[in-house]
Amino acid sequence: MTNSNQAFPRPLACVTGASAGLGKVFAEQLAERGFDLLLVARDEARLRSLSDALSLQYGITATPHVADLSRDDGMRGLAENLSKQERLMVLVNNAGFGTKGKFNTRPVAEQATMLELHVMAPMLLSRAVIPGMVARREGVIITVASVASFTASMGNVNYCATKAYQRVFMEGLAMELAGTGVKAQALCPGFTHTEFHDRMQIDKTKGIPSWAWLDARDVVRDSLDNAFGNGKTVVIPDWKYKLVVFALRHMPLWLRGIMQERYGRARV
Ligand SMILES: NC(=O)c1ccc[n+]([C@@H]2O[C@H](COP(=O)([O-])OP(=O)(O)OC[C@H]3O[C@@H](n4cnc5c(N)ncnc54)[C@H](OP(=O)(O)O)[C@@H]3O)[C@@H](O)[C@H]2O)c1
Repeated sequence: MTNSNQAFPRPLACVTGASAGLGKVFAEQLAERGFDLLLVARDEARLRSLSDALSLQYGITATPHVADLSRDDGMRGLAENLSKQERLMVLVNNAGFGTKGKFNTRPVAEQATMLELHVMAPMLLSRAVIPGMVARREGVIITVASVASFTASMGNVNYCATKAYQRVFMEGLAMELAGTGVKAQALCPGFTHTEFHDRMQIDKTKGIPSWAWLDARDVVRDSLDNAFGNGKTVVIPDWKYKLVVFALRHMPLWLRGIMQERYGRARV
């Protein structure tokens, strides 16, 4: 595919969960960097209005792709589409959600949906795009994991477990892809202002101090600077969260247990 208004085709980036939050900001910053976009989420109206606005503002082509990526047909349909995109340079596995309450009080279907969206979808999409990227010797796969990937917590059992999968999956892929020209990144933000907590009906003013909140634009800039520079595989935006992760990785297990218990009890 080529663009009629320029000699060279623009590279293409696909962002999942692009209708809101971090995904929307990824779409904005990738458009600013000159990428055509394939924007994926369930909310068609929001995707269309974002695609139109970015196409107009940046002179790129943004195309909405409506799909529920927790469903087999949704993730396989997108995987097939992406495997045929010869200009695909960036895949951002970003779509995700959290839940509130202990595991045994939550509906099984909701928890299964989380595993499909956080585990199966990024795995299938990555598998679909890697052969083309390796053949072109160029590409970046970013999966939005979380600082939660470094811990376990009550009320967040499957969230932490699926985020750990995402981080470790990207770390392993980065090793396998070394020398191919294709990079894998696990982006691990802490609390970030998006719709994530509103959708969970969590009062953001309670329990989480204001200094702990990150701006989605800073998080995404850090991710893309690392992805397009000589950056890290595991990207933890903001020094405060780098410190938190360092502490989580190095503190004695008994102390970590106490802290996880206290934080968890405050949540559930
Ligand atoms: N915000 C934080 O504090 C934070 C911290 C660390 C990591 N994260 C991670 O960041 C990622 C993005 O979250 P966010 O904070 O930007 O939340 P958000 O504002 O609620 O956005 C979530 C996005 O995911 C899409 N989505 C949800 N379920 C989907 C499905 N079944 N199929 C397709 N798209 C789906 C939503 O679009 P539709 O509703 O239109 O489908 C929306 O675009 C998530 O993976 C989350 O775990 C967030």
